[in-house]
Amino acid sequence: MSADTPTGPAISEYPDVDAIVARCDDLVATPIRPLRRDVMDGYLAWFDERCAGSKRAAAAAQERIPGGVQHNLAFNHPFALEVTRAEGAHLWDVDGNRYVDFLQAGGPTVLGSNYAPVREKVVELLQSCGPVTGLFHEYELKLASLVHDFMPGVDQFRMLGSGTEGVMAALRAARAFTGHEHVVKVGGGYHGWSDQVVFALRLPGTGALDAAGIPPAAYERTHEFFPHDVDELRAALEANVPVGGTAAVIVEPVGPESGVRPAPADFNQQARELCDEFGALLIFDEVVTGFRLGLGGAQGYFGVQPDLTVFGKCIAGGYPAAGGVGGRQEVMAVFAGGLSSKGVKVLVGGTLSANPLSCAAGYHSLLEMERTGAPVLAGRAGDRLRIGLEGLIAKYDLPYVTYNFGSIVHLHTSGILQLDLREPGAFDEVGPRRHMLEEMGAAFTAEGMITLAGSRLYTSMADTDEVIDEALAAFDRTFAGVEGVPA
Ligand SMILES: Cc1ncc(COP(=O)(O)O)c(C=O)c1O
Repeated sequence: MSADTPTGPAISEYPDVDAIVARCDDLVATPIRPLRRDVMDGYLAWFDERCAGSKRAAAAAQERIPGGVQHNLAFNHPFALEVTRAEGAHLWDVDGNRYVDFLQAGGPTVLGSNYAPVREKVVELLQSCGPVTGLFHEYELKLASLVHDFMPGVDQFRMLGSGTEGVMAALRAARAFTGHEHVVKVGGGYHGWSDQVVFALRLPGTGALDAAGIPPAAYERTHEFFPHDVDELRAALEANVPVGGTAAVIVEPVGPESGVRPAPADFNQQARELCDEFGALLIFDEVVTGFRLGLGGAQGYFGVQPDLTVFGKCIAGGYPAAGGVGGRQEVMAVFAGGLSSKGVKVLVGGTLSANPLSCAAGYHSLLEMERTGAPVLAGRAGDRLRIGLEGLIAKYDLPYVTYNFGSIVHLHTSGILQLDLREPGAFDEVGPRRHMLEEMGAAFTAEGMITLAGSRLYTSMADTDEVIDEALAAFDRTFAGVEGVPA
């Protein structure tokens, strides 16, 4: 770290949650403002004219891959793009089109895509021992020690293959440690796709709507509460007392889906206190926030200590097999087996878990993030993007809402993710609002920007002022085509 490396929190200013919620309520209460039909038809024509190679590949993929796509974070409307090159802030597709990359692979690449200093270390490792041996490698310890240095509450760390696996392990450990049975999550939150947590996804109140193929017994001890409603959380904890107790409350510290419904600044502390009152463990799912919001994660930012932390994405710096769980020693001991676990033995593992390649990639990515101040630089890029978007929303007098937690930038245009299904008629709004969002995502792509589902933008250290300004010019062109904006 040099003297001018930026340090400190990657969030320059916590969003005004009450104001955002009020603006989101207005967005949902007003009719949608999609792009004009002629404008949208122009964007769709762009895909046909400029993306012939991707179109051919997407059609062929339909034959051999269910649904034709395996990654569904970007909208694939009108068809999925075939990406051939990624570097820094940009992606290139097979037809030679260049895009500003605000998907950032779903979040892990805070240093920017395909960052050379990490790649070189990974290649070095591959040349000396290959990706996996099944035996201990020093990078396992180096990574676990570094995570502890950055997050002192993580006494011990167990590397796994994905965030999904990290959540599975955390819930299993919480049950084994507390002897309690139930799990409480925030409505709308995504914690991977394991049987117990495919419950109340995307929108609060959806319960088992997405749980096709999962036996009800797998999620019958999973409960949701409306985002950040502390009274509802307390009621859920109370209801569980006579029927086995609550093993864990699992939250994303900035709110579900990286803060699609932003958490009030004092929510995590309130959740901590309720967990202590009811003998439940507090699990922070830091799969996105872990290191993106600073090397201390969201727990460092909020100053709230969870019992267990789930890791993913950044823990392998964008390289494969990115997941794990860490926390205080007494709880983590359940993974040890034998004497040190006092007889409790929680089984986790995996042939490729904690392989040298993933551990080396994670270790060197985190070191580079520290050396360069990447979370802070990415956060500044997020601020610049959000401030620019606010200006454009005002310029065109649109009901859209934008805010950011450092390098996690939200842009709500259709309001689908803000629907409150408790309101009469809300279900009828889902289809049209989803369609609008899909079209906005396609329009952003045609304007040269890849976003996460048309509504979330991750920035990285590679997003210089020039890159952000190029993106803002593209948003300007897109917003000029919204219905009701004078042509
Ligand atoms: C908050 C959160 N938890 C868990 C997961 C699951 O992680 P993975 O995709 O590595 O299984 C994700 C993935 O996007 C996530 O955003």
